[in-house]
Amino acid sequence: MDLLTIDSLSDRQIGEILDRSQLLFEENRSATRAVQTLTGRIVFNLFYENSTRTAMSFATAAHRLGASALSLSVEHSSVKKGETLDDTAATLGAMRPDALVIRHRENGAPARVAGIVEAPVINAGDGTNEHPTQALLDAAAIQHRIGHIEGLKIAICGDIRHSRVARSNAKLLPRLGADLRLAGPLELMPNDIPQLSIDEAIEGADVVMMLRVQRERLEEDLGDAPGEYLARYGLTQQRLARAAPEAIIMHPGPMNRGVEIDSAIADDPVRSLITLQVEMGVAVRMACLELAIESDS
Ligand code: CP
Repeated sequence: MDLLTIDSLSDRQIGEILDRSQLLFEENRSATRAVQTLTGRIVFNLFYENSTRTAMSFATAAHRLGASALSLSVEHSSVKKGETLDDTAATLGAMRPDALVIRHRENGAPARVAGIVEAPVINAGDGTNEHPTQALLDAAAIQHRIGHIEGLKIAICGDIRHSRVARSNAKLLPRLGADLRLAGPLELMPNDIPQLSIDEAIEGADVVMMLRVQRERLEEDLGDAPGEYLARYGLTQQRLARAAPEAIIMHPGPMNRGVEIDSAIADDPVRSLITLQVEMGVAVRMACLELAIESDS
């Protein structure tokens, strides 16, 4: 099966991924790491956009399951000679991988590739559309720390307009029973979301997730002076004081320290889940690879 969007997953599949991820998370911390459910399989990683966390965690996930992960360096590939996405997909599909993981700058590119290759396709982030495995790992990290998502007040703040992470989380977290609030500067909010100030979104929140300003996707620079964004929209100690007393802090990364988040808050050893999110990313991607490949067998 392909994993292209949150809506493409049933409630049962989401539950299976989240439950399996908690087991795999513990297994990855154990000395044995004995899960070898995908021995002999081959996973292709095709990243047209930069990535540290997603690319490395998918490769690690495949290896931890006994599969081989092969990454095409797009910069050094025939894409640079003008090969189209469709032709690249058909070429890679002809090599008969067991799964293909793709990140692309264009919305819908993974779905397009899924229409061409026989192997299951997993969306590792497409343009401003979706990043479903990031939302799943965010949910799994919250469950790991708090034990549940039902009834939590979760604020996602920052550049919502360009955020595929926000879009996938906006589909997933309410399905799991969260009260989700999205907030950001007016010019970084989609037009179809009711306007909420960041202070209002954070008020009483159990979880505060901050997002990077995606300056590379902006048509016009924000023109903000150094320090201005943090003071007006970022997570400062003063703003965090509005949240629930033991609220946890999240960020999908990469962070712009001192812009959307105060550096000391990002590094808070108790409240910040940012490193846990990365670690959980390996477990969640293991669960996603298992589900995608095994349901195709
Ligand atoms: N969160 C996330 O997708 O990070 P990368 O861009 O480093 O993969």
